[in-house]
Amino acid sequence: MESKVSTRLIWDGKGLNQGIIDSQYIHKEVERVFPNPLFQTGELFHNTTGNNMRGIANINNHLFKGDNLQVIDYLLQQGYAEKVDLIYIDPPYLSDSKYRSRVTIGDKKDNQVLNRDVFDDDGIKDIDSYLDNIYPRLSLMKKLLTAQGSIFVHLDWHVSHYVKLLLDEIFAPDNFINEIIWCYTGGSGTKRHFHRKHDCILWYARSEDYIFNPQYRPYSQGTLERGLTRVKGDKYRLRKQGAILQDWWVDINKILSPTARENLKFPTQKPAALLKRLIEAASNPDSLVADFYSGSGTIAQVCEELGRNWIICDNSEIALETSLSRLVKNKSRPFTVETIELPAEDEIIKLTLKEPVINAIDKNSCLLSIGINNYIPADVNLQMVKEESPFVPFISFWEIDLNYNGITFNSDLQVCRENNQYDYSLPVDMVVNIPCGEKRSVAVKVYDVFGKTAVDVFTITT
Ligand SMILES: C[S@@+](CC[C@H](N)C(=O)[O-])C[C@H]1O[C@@H](n2cnc3c(N)ncnc32)[C@H](O)[C@@H]1O
Repeated sequence: MESKVSTRLIWDGKGLNQGIIDSQYIHKEVERVFPNPLFQTGELFHNTTGNNMRGIANINNHLFKGDNLQVIDYLLQQGYAEKVDLIYIDPPYLSDSKYRSRVTIGDKKDNQVLNRDVFDDDGIKDIDSYLDNIYPRLSLMKKLLTAQGSIFVHLDWHVSHYVKLLLDEIFAPDNFINEIIWCYTGGSGTKRHFHRKHDCILWYARSEDYIFNPQYRPYSQGTLERGLTRVKGDKYRLRKQGAILQDWWVDINKILSPTARENLKFPTQKPAALLKRLIEAASNPDSLVADFYSGSGTIAQVCEELGRNWIICDNSEIALETSLSRLVKNKSRPFTVETIELPAEDEIIKLTLKEPVINAIDKNSCLLSIGINNYIPADVNLQMVKEESPFVPFISFWEIDLNYNGITFNSDLQVCRENNQYDYSLPVDMVVNIPCGEKRSVAVKVYDVFGKTAVDVFTITT
């Protein structure tokens, strides 16, 4: 049983501006990739494995480009709730760093460094907006995890202490497993404090049945010479695999060398060896593994090596391009490239109507039922309103054009509020009497409390 926590992190606006999932996002499967990379034109006919894969029914690996809030919402709607054994995320750290992704163009004599993009913390300026951003995302990620599932959240000193409290709240303190300290080396100019050379990886499980495959390290020289661990007794005889790893790791360094084979010039790229250890520890070969801040796609790459299925997501085009070419070049299994996008501002359908219903009264006249299904006012978090039709208080009045000519809205009827209270009393369903035996377009226009308008049109034959 999960222990109850009454200690919580609060910040200005907690709960007010979180988890607004604009459900009008558009999902597209933009590509199905059957990796069959060509490095020289001569290889063309020598490698056709990719093409032979086309017939396969299911593709189990997916690369998403989009905001992870919407991507996770989409996955939950597609039946991925409780299907993921391991989530690793390496979100922005609120470090105020501007990361440039650099590539070198041209040969050595004539090369130039191209700064492809600047990553910052996505408009997240302070700790409040950081927490507003990550809190709903962590809550949604939990829903994807199986009972044996885990999440690793990779952070550093900037925000790990705040996020740990959020994870306690979302997962319960009893489900905290480890705080892994990943130590690395590298230059640092300051003489003002000890050099900051570690990250923290917070591990929480969904339940006490979480997967754990112990990982080992070589015994120290002293232990090997003694032939026993420090604690004496038969039980402590040396094992073939080595000693079980502690929660601090010093044996994997950052990708420092610009010429390292692994280095994809993606500024926050994590070493594959680090992620390999996490994946091996907390997932099985049949596991689905996900990373919703996937950057250069390290998780997908390592899952390919370890035979796990994967879902990755990033909202940056550079990340998409880096991951895609990385996976193709490494001849990964087939995968889909999918996008989740909000329509451009002027394309957003703010008003949707119910299916119109027509009932004949006699051979000359009919009753037409018109109703508002949904209306999305700008900049309002409708999720905070618990009622069934949260949009109603935001509508000031609405109008009906019973014979819309496609150009001018002729307001035949106006549905208004009896008082000036913007409550749920405004009717959003109407029945109108119209002549039978003709085809017509009907338009409905909403005025909201901010003075904004939206129109929807349907065509009927009575
Ligand atoms: C620290 S990097 C991840 C690096 C990755 N672990 C690797 O090995 O390459 C964080 C990534 O999160 C992405 N990101 C930030 N906010 C996001 C969001 N709301 N949805 C999806 N991706 C996001 C950024 O574009 C960036 O690529």
